[in-house]
Amino acid sequence: MAFEPTYLGKVTSVSGASVNIEVTPQIKSGLLIIEGRTHRVGQVGSFIRIPQGYNDLYGVISETSESPSNTDLDTRILKAELVGEVIGSDFERGIGQYPSISDEVHLVTENDLKKIYGNNTNGQITVGRLSSSDSIKVSIDLDSLVNKHSAILGSTGAGKSTSVASLLRSIVTNHQDNVLMPSARIVLFDIHGEYAAALGDISEVFSISPSEGERNFHIPYWCISSDNLIEFLCGQNENLRNKFNELILEDKKKFAREHPELNIKDYKITASTPLPFRLKQIWYDLTFVDNVTWKEKDKTDSPAFKEDGMGCAENLIPPRFTPPGTGSAPPFKGGPNSWSKQLDLMKSRLLDSQYKFLLEPSDWNPDKDNKISKDLDALVSEWVGSSKPITIIDLSGMPTARLELLLGSVLDILFEAAIWSRHLENGFKQNPILLVLEEAHRYLSSDNSGLAKQMVRRIAKEGRKFGVGSMLISQRPSEIDETILSQCGTIFSLRITNATDRNRVKAAMSDGLTGIVDSLPVLRTGEAIVTGEAAKLPMRFKFRLPKDGQFPDSQDPKVSQNWSLKYEESDFKDFINCWRQQDAKNKKGDK
Ligand SMILES: Nc1ncnc2c1ncn2[C@@H]1O[C@H](COP(=O)(O)OP(=O)(O)OP(=O)(O)O)[C@@H](O)[C@H]1O
Ligand SMILES: [Mg+2]
Repeated sequence: MAFEPTYLGKVTSVSGASVNIEVTPQIKSGLLIIEGRTHRVGQVGSFIRIPQGYNDLYGVISETSESPSNTDLDTRILKAELVGEVIGSDFERGIGQYPSISDEVHLVTENDLKKIYGNNTNGQITVGRLSSSDSIKVSIDLDSLVNKHSAILGSTGAGKSTSVASLLRSIVTNHQDNVLMPSARIVLFDIHGEYAAALGDISEVFSISPSEGERNFHIPYWCISSDNLIEFLCGQNENLRNKFNELILEDKKKFAREHPELNIKDYKITASTPLPFRLKQIWYDLTFVDNVTWKEKDKTDSPAFKEDGMGCAENLIPPRFTPPGTGSAPPFKGGPNSWSKQLDLMKSRLLDSQYKFLLEPSDWNPDKDNKISKDLDALVSEWVGSSKPITIIDLSGMPTARLELLLGSVLDILFEAAIWSRHLENGFKQNPILLVLEEAHRYLSSDNSGLAKQMVRRIAKEGRKFGVGSMLISQRPSEIDETILSQCGTIFSLRITNATDRNRVKAAMSDGLTGIVDSLPVLRTGEAIVTGEAAKLPMRFKFRLPKDGQFPDSQDPKVSQNWSLKYEESDFKDFINCWRQQDAKNKKGDK
């Protein structure tokens, strides 16, 4: 019987979507030469084809072994997982029929692969090339990538940041400086300040300590949910929180009354409505309420100020009162006198320059007359309305304990904006947003209950309905909350050496291709396995390498090269200066 040159062997058993294949003894060397090219047979991760009349079933080899019963004949057995079929000329995921015993199995040639990957229809983004055949481009579906969320996982140094930079560039450009997606809305939360170096030409960079060409990052305290803000400013105290919320609500209502053009009905305002209020005034009012004494019993219009003891909200000078008299003598005690610790903490926060971007947010800071020079629309417009398709929010140098609150707050603002703009033409539902979250394990662990995690959870579950997609990046997938990871429709996994992490990724990769996933520890840097919604097939591929000058600022230190340089005495003043300035780029401290 004459076989086609691609003939590999025959099906010996079928169980669910996995088939066992006995390799024909004719392929002794394990090599097949087709169209002048040598193909290695039975490589884990490579494809096989099982013709079924007009259709072809496709599978991926997950295991290769020797037949136990036929060892002297040296028969090889391949195990493959069926993944899709070509009907006519279109490849579709999933299978409509199963192969039968003794069906022929063929090696997949480049031409076959082109059939699968070749029809570069709209919305397919080329992200790299197949590991097994360099000439075949790998593309992914942008709509599914954004709508169904994704994760990029891999051990430290596996090439995640570099791959993300390459992937984002692939999405918005053709890698030739032409922007193909000028209206893209991608917001990248850059925890280590690595990405400006890689994507500066196609992004707007916001930072707390901006370098040249970067913009100041502000997030007005009055957009942060009041409970979180209060906890940050004063710690936990139930009584204080109630009073605080009451004062916030009053001040927000006052703002709305003074700005009738906003047209907000009084009864619709709550403590969490994003309206400005004067934080320093609230500190003053709380101090007043806590310490006040009255000249006349129960007369709340008769505060017993000390001489010159009125204080001043703007300059954070507390009001001072004459202490209550003994017995029934005036003045009379008014306040509980029990919040001084919390109010001192609040004052020190208000004075701390590292929180200026939050507590004194420049144009968004209401002045003493309760006026702001820019409103929230200007902020959202800065973040997502720029002509550059990517916005990088550089959160490096942010105190770790606060990272969650700030990140969570930005996510909160963007997600609320998405929800309320869902019927508008420029809303995210019309023109969606992709949120890229670096170092996700830091704020998405199972035992964390911070604002960032609540928001990411919510986005993972409901984001699709409002046009908000997320992409998580992490080196410790086992530390990420399982519900969140399981909502990621597409998973790119780079090299993962740690077994616990690998098992988590295996469980999250829905395609049941354990064979391919087992190659996770041996992937090369920049090489990944992609499975899920956005990939036509699970595949092992190499991300496009960024051009020179477009790498993120995350290069491995060159140990041997630099340790072998001639010794020179060095001066550590700049070290200390940067540290003291809390600014890695500003050694002179001139800002
Ligand atoms: N495709 C690639 N080919 C060659 N070198 C690469 C490739 N991708 C990344 N590298 C190099 O590998 C090193 C680590 O890359 P990268 O910073 O992207 O890793 P990472 O996975 O983000 O690490 P971490 O988890 O620590 O942030 C860098 O020096 C980078 O230049
Ligand atoms: Mg990284």
